[in-house]
Amino acid sequence: MTNLTYKIPITINIFLIGMMGSWKSTVGRKLADALNLEFIDTDDAIEEVTEMKVVDIFREFGEEKFREMETAFFVEKAKKFGQLFSTGGGIVLSAENRNVLQKNGITFLLDASPQTLANRIHNTTKRPLLTDSDNLEDRLQKIWDERHQYYLECARHVISTDEMEPPQVLDEILKILEVANADH
Ligand code: S3P
Repeated sequence: MTNLTYKIPITINIFLIGMMGSWKSTVGRKLADALNLEFIDTDDAIEEVTEMKVVDIFREFGEEKFREMETAFFVEKAKKFGQLFSTGGGIVLSAENRNVLQKNGITFLLDASPQTLANRIHNTTKRPLLTDSDNLEDRLQKIWDERHQYYLECARHVISTDEMEPPQVLDEILKILEVANADH
């Protein structure tokens, strides 16, 4: 793994976006450490604020209400800089969120095919959009088709993670950021 120490404080936000199972949280936590940024996992934060699990919010109030909470939380939080956000897979569904992802920092798409994602996701009980699906790959393909254009619209950098493990994804992002730093 690249051993980079960032001496210059990073005063922007970094956003990780992508489908469920794209390793946003795993990579995000480590990246935030490496860059000395405050780490925010939007799902964890919503669970903390509401004192409810995401799956229970979906069950009790429905997806639309969850999206409202997600957008309200994200738009407000992303006003401050110096943070690393690992976002929920559906963050790009809101135009307001897409605007934030395009303007308030550097957005990385952790891309992966539905087949790869299906191989990575073992537990669907915590993922309300996947719990009732007979065929995980087909379900992921459908969600992927609905969202992929939005992901691309928001991303400044796209990392294709199909052939990677999390440490390589982390390395790749650090390499890109080092170039970005050297350029400025
Ligand atoms: C969702 C992804 C989940 C969570 C919720 C909805 C989605 O987050 O926000 O279950 O719509 O793709 P992860 O992408 O972190 O699993």
